[in-house]
Amino acid sequence: MSLRLSDPCLVVLIGASGSGKSSLARRHFGASEVVSSDLCRALVAGDEIARDADEDTFAVVHAICSARLRGGLLTVLDATNLHAASRRAVVGLARDHGRPAVALVLDLPEAVCQERNRARGERGVGPHVVRHQQRLLRRAIPELREEGFAEVVLLEDAAAVEALRVERAARPGGDAPAPPQQPRQVAADAGEGGPGYALDLTAAERTRYRFMAQRAVRLEGDRWRRHGVVPGARVADVGCGPGEVLVELARLVGDAGAVVGVEPGAEARAAAAEAIAAAGLANAEVIDGRADATGLAPGSQDVVMVRLVLFHVGAGAQAAVDHLATRMRPGGHLYLVDVDVTGVRMSRDDPDILEGAERYREFQRRRGCDVAIGPRLGSLLLAAGLDLVDRDAVIHIVPREVLALGGALAASQREMRAAGAATEEDVMRWTDARRRMVENPDAAMFIPSYIAVGRRPG
Ligand SMILES: C[S@@+](CC[C@H](N)C(=O)[O-])C[C@H]1O[C@@H](n2cnc3c(N)ncnc32)[C@H](O)[C@@H]1O
Repeated sequence: MSLRLSDPCLVVLIGASGSGKSSLARRHFGASEVVSSDLCRALVAGDEIARDADEDTFAVVHAICSARLRGGLLTVLDATNLHAASRRAVVGLARDHGRPAVALVLDLPEAVCQERNRARGERGVGPHVVRHQQRLLRRAIPELREEGFAEVVLLEDAAAVEALRVERAARPGGDAPAPPQQPRQVAADAGEGGPGYALDLTAAERTRYRFMAQRAVRLEGDRWRRHGVVPGARVADVGCGPGEVLVELARLVGDAGAVVGVEPGAEARAAAAEAIAAAGLANAEVIDGRADATGLAPGSQDVVMVRLVLFHVGAGAQAAVDHLATRMRPGGHLYLVDVDVTGVRMSRDDPDILEGAERYREFQRRRGCDVAIGPRLGSLLLAAGLDLVDRDAVIHIVPREVLALGGALAASQREMRAAGAATEEDVMRWTDARRRMVENPDAAMFIPSYIAVGRRPG
């Protein structure tokens, strides 16, 4: 997982005692960039565990952070930051200096934090404190974006912490303070073309997309080639999201080919452009457009691929497929992939997980999504005047390590709460249930997934 920081900014570590905040800070940042509340407590009170010195300690912490941000220096705040009031104070401080605040959340299993605290002996905190901190953290996570963090990065286990890469990008305009930051709007609104997209694009989400893209290459690579994704081909990936599949397609068509991603969401487009640049690809680009108004010239593509998008387009799916069917040259292929989430099954039936899944489906239905569109893909192609040349259906397994990253329900929670479709308690209950589930070595989710390929006659 890679975290791209705009330098300068304020990185706010959030996590219980023993979650690994200081080790992470040491690993990725310079000693003088890290403002540690423990160190400041030791400076003002002579001991880093003197809890009664909090007021003086945080006055010093804030003064140092403030001076650094004013001076245009990247600053990392190493403290638990579990209370909304303390986070509000530092987000406000970053905003005052026109710098973005990034939340780096270490949401490790409680057992890991407890174990590390035990190993600290007298310098560690008691088990009841860690338990309470974990509860505060669980409550805080869904709130962070609303609190004004420009980015929220969630690390949920030791492997995710280990895999973290931190890159820095100097902000255009150099050292001048940026205008005050607004929380980043991550949900794309697809306007008239459908209900839009209600999934947050966190670093964990991007990792999940990468997993899905790599599996698609493994399982569908031959089928892609059979339907025209070959060296030299022109391919459009419509609703390309963060561009993980697009990058794979661009590798397959090579320098003589070209891939264009069409995506209505600004953040997803930026992520896709980043993925293209990171892969060093000169044959791929991403443009703004919707499935029913791509901006692609009629007959301009050899293959148009549309993966996990028509679900979100809902009632407008036929209009979108009608438009897409005319974007290929005669003989070109329209390749559709989508799911039927009414058939999702879990390795174990947990009542909270089942309830969360049903509430997610209901939320998406109400937004106008078609949660069971998968089996209808072939009909959409035929109705658009294409020949139906290939179909398949499989049940995909989402393994434990990918489930731990979240999934569609976790990625929709912010929107569900904003729409009044879930309460904070619901979100905590579902998060706890997922956490319980991934503690089982057999944890997995199974999703019915459908492919249909249409060929333009002629
Ligand atoms: C689940 S993601 C799939 C991303 C990518 N196709 C993949 O398989 O990794 C769905 C994407 O569809 C996009 N989307 C939503 N409504 C759309 C529309 N009307 N036209 C095109 N894309 C749309 C969203 O912005 C989002 O990036």
